[in-house]
Amino acid sequence: MGIKIIATGRYVPERVLTNADLEKMVETSDEWIRTRTGIETRHIADASQATSDMCREAAKNALEMAGIAPSELGAIVVATITPDHSFPNTACLLQEEIGAKNAFCFDLSAACSGLIYSLVTAQALMKMTPNLKYVLVLGAEKLSSIVDWDDRNTCVLFGDGAAAVILEKTDDGNDSIKAYNLGADGACKDILFMPAGGSRMPASLESVQNRKHFINMTGKEVFKFAVNAMVSSSQQAMTDAGVAPDDIKFLVPHQANYRILKAVAQRLDIPEERVYMNLNRYGNTSAASIGLCLDEMVRNNLLQKGDKVLLTAFGGGLTWGSIVLEW
Ligand code: UT7
Repeated sequence: MGIKIIATGRYVPERVLTNADLEKMVETSDEWIRTRTGIETRHIADASQATSDMCREAAKNALEMAGIAPSELGAIVVATITPDHSFPNTACLLQEEIGAKNAFCFDLSAACSGLIYSLVTAQALMKMTPNLKYVLVLGAEKLSSIVDWDDRNTCVLFGDGAAAVILEKTDDGNDSIKAYNLGADGACKDILFMPAGGSRMPASLESVQNRKHFINMTGKEVFKFAVNAMVSSSQQAMTDAGVAPDDIKFLVPHQANYRILKAVAQRLDIPEERVYMNLNRYGNTSAASIGLCLDEMVRNNLLQKGDKVLLTAFGGGLTWGSIVLEW
């Protein structure tokens, strides 16, 4: 038995928010944003679009590439921190939208590490479930719905989008995921979180007035943590897969900040030309970011059979994770 990635898909909303647009909203500059983050534009969903709507477009895209019908999907997993509702889960909403009536459905919450956590979870489920042939995994976020557009420390960083991956169980013994490493540290929960809207602080007039329904971040601490976590997790995954940095065709890191990505690549001894980046166009799309990269790489024919790809991410929780893929 082997679990293979057979298709990818992506969707980003049409509306583009530029650094020049942000200059009109908060006290910032194109120069500051570009030099501190590497971000130039991000895509923002319109008011009528929720996360499941973006998932639908990315899913259709991936199903078309896979050449399978929605009814053939046995499970749908949506990694997101911006679900349409607390419940029902976003995967159920997507299931109905695309007519995947034979799929069981759940969302997974691991912030920016969500796609990596979900791919590992999907592979494990497929290994233990006899009739699970196709699983659809998505990373999708409408971060614009939880960004404080008055807070220059965060509003310049984030964007919206959805990315899809389809896994198939095959008869040969080769898995796409050669090794993985996942981790978490709940002691760092307060450096990247959203204070209200859950059972700890339900929505109230006071929570809204005190701006508690937005991303709250201690940027510098997250930066340091991100570099250390992605480096050590990547090293562990490479060791477990029996590969060296030279064997990695592409490093695909969570697209948080150009300076974070550069520091990770340097410490892993992977030259920058082998680091895939699109954060200049999309900003940080949390769980969607690695999937948006993968789909661009696939559709631009950057990946050949046998190529080793290292995915690595960190996010709120804090969580982190890495996967060594063989394409
Ligand atoms: O998916 C995970 C999500 N989070 C992250 O990836 C965030 C990781 N952290 C970072 O990317 C960086 O820490 C930031 C980009 C958020 C900030 O960069 P920094 O180099 O750590 O800047 P800083 O926080 O030290 O701020 C430097 C200065 C401050 O001014 P003072 O106190 O030195 O006068 C900030 O107030 O820059 C100021 N500043 C801004 N200035 C213009 C902060 N945001 C902005 C802004 N425009 N948008």
